[in-house]
Amino acid sequence: MSETTVSLMPEIQEFLAQTHGHFIDNAVVPSRSGAVMDDVNPATREVLTTVARGGAEDVDLAVKAAKRAFEAGAWANMPPNQRGILLWRLADLIEQRIDIAAQLDSLDMGMPIRQSRYGTTPMAIDHLRYMAGWATKVEGRTIPVSAGSFFNYTVREPVGVVAAIIPWNFPLLMAIWKLGAALATGCTVVLKPAEQSPLSALMLAQWAREVGFPAGVINVVTGYGSEAGAALVAHPDVDKVAFTGSTEVGKSIMKTAADRMARVSMELGGKSPNIICADANIKRAVSGSMLGIFMNQGEVCSAGSRIYVARAIYDQVLEAMETYAKTLRVGHPLDHRTQMGPVVSDEQYQRVMHYIEVAHREGASLIAGGGAMSEAGPGYFIQPTVFAGVEDQMTIAQEEIFGPVVAVMPFDDLDEVVSRANQSIYGLAAGVWTENVRTAHYLAQRLKAGTVWVNAYHVYDAAAPWGGFKQSGFGREMGSYALDLYTEVKDVWIGL
Ligand code: NAI
Ligand code: MG
Repeated sequence: MSETTVSLMPEIQEFLAQTHGHFIDNAVVPSRSGAVMDDVNPATREVLTTVARGGAEDVDLAVKAAKRAFEAGAWANMPPNQRGILLWRLADLIEQRIDIAAQLDSLDMGMPIRQSRYGTTPMAIDHLRYMAGWATKVEGRTIPVSAGSFFNYTVREPVGVVAAIIPWNFPLLMAIWKLGAALATGCTVVLKPAEQSPLSALMLAQWAREVGFPAGVINVVTGYGSEAGAALVAHPDVDKVAFTGSTEVGKSIMKTAADRMARVSMELGGKSPNIICADANIKRAVSGSMLGIFMNQGEVCSAGSRIYVARAIYDQVLEAMETYAKTLRVGHPLDHRTQMGPVVSDEQYQRVMHYIEVAHREGASLIAGGGAMSEAGPGYFIQPTVFAGVEDQMTIAQEEIFGPVVAVMPFDDLDEVVSRANQSIYGLAAGVWTENVRTAHYLAQRLKAGTVWVNAYHVYDAAAPWGGFKQSGFGREMGSYALDLYTEVKDVWIGL
């Protein structure tokens, strides 16, 4: 399907035609250097638009704006119910314009419109509303101290200026996961969206201004990780870095932040195991597990990329997975029939193809896919790919691919599969398929992962905490746990 048969909404066309500067102090400003960078449409490989390519000077302006707004108290000292109302109004505005928001992300990074329109954008709206409610509920405690005659209590204060650095896989949702809790607690933010998908963050900032967010509370600097991103992490006035992205970059950010003890939270990569037991409902397990890997082209930190199947049902499950993968509709992201779009960029396309080549070389057997999908269009389309005969030590069983490639392996007993599942540097999520309640609880207890789904995969909720064990990171976004990431506890002693 060509771009001409997929019509862009007039609001999108108008937005694309704008000059995309940074968003600082409620104004759109070009880079100080005048530099711009291309933003590519992954479905066509064509340049969609250009955006400002930020550097240290732009970052400095944005951080100063955020610091001014924080210190002047226009946000932190605003009555919390007013902060909550603004967050709620922003959610309402996104809801009114949900088709625009959904189309923009699909265009920019390739997720199927069905997913952005009915999945991730509604989740982003819900998340803002959930966090709006927390603005009035960030409470301290009174502590019964034994040290003498004192009244002791705690207050939770906003940590200050937050640098939010986000990836390209869910552009609007990732922005809102960071903004929601940071803003609810009274922090101000400089957001650095990924260079592959900067548009929805820029649009969101304009919408926030429209509903009345004060200047400097939400700032957006676009640019490359090594330039704008690195400058932001190194800026002395950034109190906290909230990062989602690769484990490798996460480690380098921690090192930089360590010098000034800036707070960090890390939502990083994964190689999540998904275990299908012999007593599972096979039909549900197969479709759930295929969604678990192929949703968003496999570009999900929690993708269930290692599937362990009980040997008794292995052949049957593999056959069903083959059929599923071969019939999944890969196509233009803006086509409502599409179930899987292109991967985000040429770099990502090459990376995924490389892993497929390595899998062949190491002796895995290809069950479905395994190549480019040029019939879907000129973009970065890859076939849904299933490998069987995968050994635990093979590269595709260990490294995060972040694409539509899954490794399927048989197992014989529960203790064996637990130990194999846990043999990973990562620990973000895990899936379990069983009709036996004892097996369900046993596996949920023993798997080393921040989230365990039983008879489900890829379910998320604003109220449920999200984050990793091990090298998948630390800190929990979403739920009340997220408030901890953006607040400091102050303990006060009153001598009586
Ligand atoms: P990345 O980690 O390089 O990029 C994520 C964000 O960090 C982007 O906004 C980027 O501009 C920024 N960044 C990059 N280098 C930086 C630096 N030195 N200082 C500050 N910010 C920096 O991820 P990339 O290159 O887009 O993808 C590479 C691989 O990372 C993927 O194939 C996947 O395996 C993994 N990844 C995992 C994600 C997750 O959600 N856990 C999201 C994106 C990528
Ligand atoms: Mg793009």
